[in-house]
Amino acid sequence: MRLPRSVRDADVAGKTVLVRADLNVPLEHGEVADDTRIRSSVPTLALLLEHGAAEVRVCSHLGRPKTDGDRATYSMEPVERRLRELLPGNRLVVLENTRFNPGETKNEDGFARELAAGCDLYVNDAFGSAHRAHASTEAVAHLLPAYAGLLLLAELEHLSALLGDVERPFVLVSGGAKVDDKLGVLQNLGGRADTVLIGGKMAEQIRVENPLDFDVVLPTDVVGASAFEPDAEAGIFPFDGLPEGWLGLDIGPLTRASYAPAITGARTIFWNGPMGVFEWSRFAEGTKAVAQAVAGNDAAFSVVGGADSVRALNELGLAERISWVSTGGGASLELLEGKDLPGVAAIPEA
Ligand code: 3PG
Ligand code: MG
Repeated sequence: MRLPRSVRDADVAGKTVLVRADLNVPLEHGEVADDTRIRSSVPTLALLLEHGAAEVRVCSHLGRPKTDGDRATYSMEPVERRLRELLPGNRLVVLENTRFNPGETKNEDGFARELAAGCDLYVNDAFGSAHRAHASTEAVAHLLPAYAGLLLLAELEHLSALLGDVERPFVLVSGGAKVDDKLGVLQNLGGRADTVLIGGKMAEQIRVENPLDFDVVLPTDVVGASAFEPDAEAGIFPFDGLPEGWLGLDIGPLTRASYAPAITGARTIFWNGPMGVFEWSRFAEGTKAVAQAVAGNDAAFSVVGGADSVRALNELGLAERISWVSTGGGASLELLEGKDLPGVAAIPEA
């Protein structure tokens, strides 16, 4: 794999460095619900400070803000607070959510210039966003001398182990909410796995219309709810037997009982996306069962990606039993598909 040049080789003393991190963390009640991505971003920031950078200006997107009303919800403020606990000091500056500027997702040169203004070099450490060609991940890399951060490099090194010949069976477990993003990826990647287990909203969508041209394992039963609410009326239903208007918010007990042994028999595992709305305990069992099966399989090389799956692992105290916990969800999927990630491609080669 082509590796971008490392921040370790950059001369940063006395310089102002723009860092793109992926601080897009799950939030709950306005607070950081899982700080994995924040903690994972610290080594690069600390390295820059240790090497004498005059100022380290860190930027990230947070969530998918659409309206002005979303600004309060997706302010970087709680993220900044957590980052400052981990890394105190006044040479660190945290910029506001890059997606508050419409130029960000359009990869606009104008916004990239705003970000680059006053900076001497650029470090991209945002592996989780490397599949996005956005102003802060792509355009800006052409305006300043660009380097890859430590996290970005570590992710590329570990994930590339899944790109070549893997030990089989290779089991892919896919769930989560960003279905439209992931279906295309699954179409390209799924054929390389021996078994593809589907849950979460992905399963719900495939029930309505399945665009995949290979076999996937779908749930046999689901935990249905009368509304998208934590205390909604709920029950177990056959996968295609939900009452009109009800929602499938988790995989059911029969599905758990069949997915777990499939995972236990694997020698390579890639899991991305929860099996249901695990933030609500009544719809968490499917995700728990998958997390326990993946963590319990010591014989397999296991990779778990995506902020929500990683949050689930952390909440269950299982993250340390996974071979590589990736900070990337969609990014790790696209990398495994064999695609060039625009955020990586924009950095000169090592
Ligand atoms: C992620 O959480 O997958 C990354 O931070 C990218 O976020 P996005 O899917 O909203 O671009
Ligand atoms: Mg995500």
